[in-house]
Amino acid sequence: MTAFSERVEQVSISGIREVFEAAGEGAINLGLGQPDFPTPDHARQAAIEAIESGKTDGYTTNKGTRELRAAISDKHARDNDLEISPENCIATSGGSEALHIAIEAHVDSGQEVLIPDPGFVSYEALTHLAGGEPVPIGLRGDLTMAPEDVERAITEDTAAFVVCSPANPTGAVQSPEDMREFARIADEYDVLCISDEVYEHIVFEGEHRSPMEFIEGDNVVVVNACSKSYSMTGWRLGWVVGSEDRIERMLRVHQYAQACASAPAQYAAEAALSGPQGIVGEMTTSFEQRRDLVLDGLEEMGLDVPTPQGAFYVMPRVPEGWVEAVIDRGVIVVPGEAFGERGAGHARISYATGEAELEEALDVMAGATEAVR
Ligand SMILES: Cc1ncc(COP(=O)(O)O)c(C=O)c1O
Repeated sequence: MTAFSERVEQVSISGIREVFEAAGEGAINLGLGQPDFPTPDHARQAAIEAIESGKTDGYTTNKGTRELRAAISDKHARDNDLEISPENCIATSGGSEALHIAIEAHVDSGQEVLIPDPGFVSYEALTHLAGGEPVPIGLRGDLTMAPEDVERAITEDTAAFVVCSPANPTGAVQSPEDMREFARIADEYDVLCISDEVYEHIVFEGEHRSPMEFIEGDNVVVVNACSKSYSMTGWRLGWVVGSEDRIERMLRVHQYAQACASAPAQYAAEAALSGPQGIVGEMTTSFEQRRDLVLDGLEEMGLDVPTPQGAFYVMPRVPEGWVEAVIDRGVIVVPGEAFGERGAGHARISYATGEAELEEALDVMAGATEAVR
């Protein structure tokens, strides 16, 4: 009989999926990690024109079209004050593939990867798939990750640590001082910092800074995507940025696993990155209003809620049985333990949903809170 690899047996289908499947028809879905805005029209049009002109019928270069990588380079200059050569970037199939090739290219069997707990589900799974050992790092009371906790957890076996800011599932934003510290740790201990910046634009308080700005050597790779910034989750277009050597190694994985990112998506992404940026601010303003609405509602129920400063998630501490009671009443939220052991006792609520639905969902949550108290 064909056996399965030990690596794949260590991962399971995400707990988020299980919640969706448990929910009845007509449920309000606050479990989804995607903006409810349309993709900007100029991005859609760029893909249509590229398809109609036949430009998307063949493979692009492995790293992605020169024009897209130039747009990515310009984006880093504009938004992050970073000079990134188009050669030092690979266009990927979403941020997901960018994380995959970053971990695959840098983590040896048995090596450790430090990940936030609670943290985005892919970090643990991708580490296992690379044969590595995920090491969960607990978070501060405000749900940010303390650089000193990362520093303390580093051993001879540590290959990398993952920083995610603004974060899924917490909405927490690391301070510029923390980012400077993460860069120092990466330099000093010679470990790789994988900085997941897919929510970089969705910041309400504080500011997004990249550890890449502070690094002296080359121990940072940045993962980013059009998915959240331009409401393009279905297009599957992300990228990874790093030094020449690191890009060359990640390209080896990308070349064999993917060949190149989807060509139509590359044209759409180029237009999104280099066209008018208004949608980014509009979405952020709207998410901030929804954040305030949800935060007020949860606080009125008497729940303890660290104030999310970015992304579109909130992670209240909830009483035993709360998540089940909310789901039973027709609102999908995700149990905190889906994001790591220390997520237990929390729920992740995505508020990338219209205000009317959010208000309805808050009423349901208030009823569930009463019922389980
Ligand atoms: C923190 C984080 N990183 C990466 C991703 C992957 O994004 P993509 O849809 O571009 O693959 C997600 C998606 O939810 C995410 O929340």
